[in-house]
Amino acid sequence: MEDFIPYCLPTLDESEIDEVVDTLRSGWLTTGPKVTRFEETFRNYVGTEHAAAVNSCTAGLHLSLAALDIGPGDEVITTTLTFCATANVAVHLGATPVLADICLDDYNLDPADVERRITPKTRAIMPVHYAGQPCRMDELMEIAERHNLAVIEDAAHAVGAEYKGKSIGGIGHTTSFSFYATKNMTTGEGGMVTTNDAELANKIRLLTLHGMSHDAWDRYTDKGSWYYEVLAPGYKYNMMDIQAALGIHQMEKLESFIEERKHQAELYQRYLGDLEEIILPATRPDVRHVWHLYPIRVVADRLEIDRSEFIEALRERGIGTSVHFIPVHKHPWYREHYGYQPTDFPNAEAVYEGLISLPLYPRLGEDGVGRVAEAVRDVVRRNRR
Ligand SMILES: Cc1ncc(COP(=O)(O)O)c(C=O)c1O
Repeated sequence: MEDFIPYCLPTLDESEIDEVVDTLRSGWLTTGPKVTRFEETFRNYVGTEHAAAVNSCTAGLHLSLAALDIGPGDEVITTTLTFCATANVAVHLGATPVLADICLDDYNLDPADVERRITPKTRAIMPVHYAGQPCRMDELMEIAERHNLAVIEDAAHAVGAEYKGKSIGGIGHTTSFSFYATKNMTTGEGGMVTTNDAELANKIRLLTLHGMSHDAWDRYTDKGSWYYEVLAPGYKYNMMDIQAALGIHQMEKLESFIEERKHQAELYQRYLGDLEEIILPATRPDVRHVWHLYPIRVVADRLEIDRSEFIEALRERGIGTSVHFIPVHKHPWYREHYGYQPTDFPNAEAVYEGLISLPLYPRLGEDGVGRVAEAVRDVVRRNRR
């Protein structure tokens, strides 16, 4: 059998390795000059006033809600088709995550369903740019303004994405990005929060490191002072220089990564576009899609096998896949605490039933895409009704 094609691999070369080694030799491992450099590079790339590095996107989302003083009695609306972290952070603060359904064209938050779920307790909307395709931000921002709500964007998939020519990162009140190992650029674990609001930026920075009035980075340099005050009970969410060393060099390659992802998505479209047994992901015309994921849907009534069997058949042919996501409302904790019913989310239920994310990453290359597509065609050919 040919080599197994994993679902995902990071692209790292000598520049990241050298920078990490340089950091290790420098004597400064945690938050320091490389984090500052990474923040500055990222801020310029996205074009926002502020960029604060954190140790995950989850931390960025948590800090964003905390900086807005969202807590018990408050409701936060987000999509059910997301990673659990988006909803979990609201729960951590004692707020209630209210899940909404998705649109069928882009699998993103449906603005009309968001509006239906607004109550006097709603404080924020958390759009998730699923797979790297921006949400319908004009509609969501208009709803938020009308109801005086904050917009806290989850851009874990969407570094480099654009909506109507505007970079994702400067549209809502804050935007959180992920640099987890599988993401379009990586620091192993890591995240960044961008905003144009100076007050929110200051609060997020304060809460990132215990609520201390000075960064530890200042305390132990020749410029630093031993004295600090705790101004709020903050968290331990700072990024290390070891992580930023990776991020600085991933940023240099990000545009080429995105172009390669787009090319691979076009190849899948060319190789699989004629199959009636699967639905390929679509791109809206008003966005720059950065193709973090390539989620196909198998059409149940055209095949003898279901999604799980399809995944197993691909694995037997040496292809790794994943599913993004098991909708939040289907997880036991959420189902039991909020009493969600599948009928509350007809679109997410219909989409989830057939979802499979195919491999898509720079190292896959054209040959890899060809092998995955051939395996998908073979599974369809042998199992069509
Ligand atoms: C939509 C979404 N939000 C948030 C996260 C959390 O990112 P992190 O692992 O950086 O905390 C992920 C990670 O997979 C994600 O897919």
